[in-house]
Amino acid sequence: MSKETTIVSQQLSTKEGAFTAEFEWPVTLAIDKGLDGAVTNKSKVGYVDGDKGRLIYQGYPVETLAENANYEEVAYLLIFGKLPNEAEYAEFDSKLKAQRKMPIEVVKIMDIIYDHKHSHPMSLLRTAVSVLGVLQKNVMDTSRENELRMGMHLIASMPTVIAALHRLRLGLKPVEPDITLSHVENFLYMLHGKKPAALDVKLLEISMILHADHGMNASTLTAMATSASLSDLYSSIVGAIGSLKGPLHGGANEVVLQEFLKIKSIAHVTEYVAGKVAKKEKIMGFGHRIYKTYDPRAAVMKKYASKLKEEVEMFKIAEVLDKEVVAKYGSKGIYPNVDFYSGIIYKHLGFETNFFTTIFAAARISGWLARILEYRAENRIFRPRDVYIGEFNKEFVERKKRV
Ligand code: CMC
Repeated sequence: MSKETTIVSQQLSTKEGAFTAEFEWPVTLAIDKGLDGAVTNKSKVGYVDGDKGRLIYQGYPVETLAENANYEEVAYLLIFGKLPNEAEYAEFDSKLKAQRKMPIEVVKIMDIIYDHKHSHPMSLLRTAVSVLGVLQKNVMDTSRENELRMGMHLIASMPTVIAALHRLRLGLKPVEPDITLSHVENFLYMLHGKKPAALDVKLLEISMILHADHGMNASTLTAMATSASLSDLYSSIVGAIGSLKGPLHGGANEVVLQEFLKIKSIAHVTEYVAGKVAKKEKIMGFGHRIYKTYDPRAAVMKKYASKLKEEVEMFKIAEVLDKEVVAKYGSKGIYPNVDFYSGIIYKHLGFETNFFTTIFAAARISGWLARILEYRAENRIFRPRDVYIGEFNKEFVERKKRV
C-alpha cells in the first residue's frame, strides 16, 4: 500500500503556545510531557496498579513478599520469574556472598575523593559503580550469562560500597563483609560493625523488598535506554543511580525527613501544609504518576514505622501530615508514596539522611537488572521523537558579520 507523504507547514498549539512546524503528512501527534502514558515494552517482572493501589512482582503481591520472603529470594524472583527452591536459593546465595567484597581500588578512590562537606553519597555510589565497571572484564559482552554475572556482582557489592562510605564519613575503617550473614544482616553489620538486632534486619528487609522494582519508573527507563544501545550494564546502572538521585524520584525520602525536622512538632503541621498550599509548592513524599490512591508500599512502611518507640515523635508528625495532605489533596489522587515513611525507618537503622537514597538504589538494582535482562531478549534501541518548534531555512551569516 503506498503512503502519500507531503511536506506541509502546520500551525499547531500545545500548552506552551502556538508554533509552526513542517511534517510528513498525514501525521498523528501527541505530546505527553514526561512520556505520560507511553508504553515501552511488555514485561512479566512487575505490575503497578495505580487505581487499586497494588504492586505485583512476578505474580506475587508485594505485601506478601515483604512479610514472608527475604531480599535474596525476591531478587531471584524478579530475575528468574519464580521463587527459588532450596537448591536454587543455595546456589544464588553463595554466588552473591562470593562477590560481596569491594576491590581495594574502590575504597582508595572513595577515600581520596570524599569531600565530607560536599560529596553526596549518591554521587559517590554512582562513581563507585562506574569504577567497579572499569575494573570488570568483558563488560561489553551483552550475553544473558555475562550480564547476569555482572548484575549479581552489583547486587552483592552495592551494600558493601554504601556501608564503607558511611564509615569513611564517620572517620571509621570499612568493615569486611561476613559471608555467614544474610544479604541484609551483612549490610547492617558492615554499617555498624556489629551483628544487627532481629527487628532491624526485618525493617531493612521489608524496605529493600518494597523498593526492589516498580514498573517503568524514571531510573528503570534510564537503565533500559542505556542498555538498549548495547552499552554495558555498569553504564546503565550509573545512569539509573543518577536518575534515582533526583528529589522527584528516589531523592524524595531524604527531603521528607528534612521537612519533618523543620516541622518539629504536630502543632506546626497545619501551618506547614497551609504554607505549601499558599506557595503552590509540592509536599515531598506525596503524589505519584501511577498511584492515584494510597501507595501499598507506604502502607507497609507506615505499619513498621509506627512500631518504633524511639521515633514516635517523628512518626506522629508524619501521621498528622499524612491525614492533612490527604484531606486537602486526596480528591486529586495525591496520597503518601513509598518515600514518605521510609526515612523514619532508615533513621532508626542509623543511616544519615543523605544516605537514604543509596538504600533505595541497593534495593532497586534487582529490578533494574531483571528488566534489562528481560528486554535484552527483544532488544531495540530506544528512540522516541520530539516536535521541532524552531525555525527553518535560516540564512547563514559569517561570524564577523553577525550581530
Ligand atoms: N504535593 C502537592 N501537589 C502535588 C504533589 C505533591 N507532592 N504531587 C503532585 N501534585 C499536583 C501537581 O501540583 C499537579 O497539580 P495541577 O494539576 O493542579 O497543576 C498535579 O498534582 C500533577 O502533578 P505532576 O507533577 O504533573 O505529576 P507527575 O506525575 O508528573 O509527578 C511526582 C509525579 C511523584 C514527581 C509528583 O507527585 C511529585 O513531585 N511528588 C513529590 C516528590 C516525591 O514524593 N517523589 C517520590 C515519588 S515515589 C518514589 C519513586 O518511585 O520515585
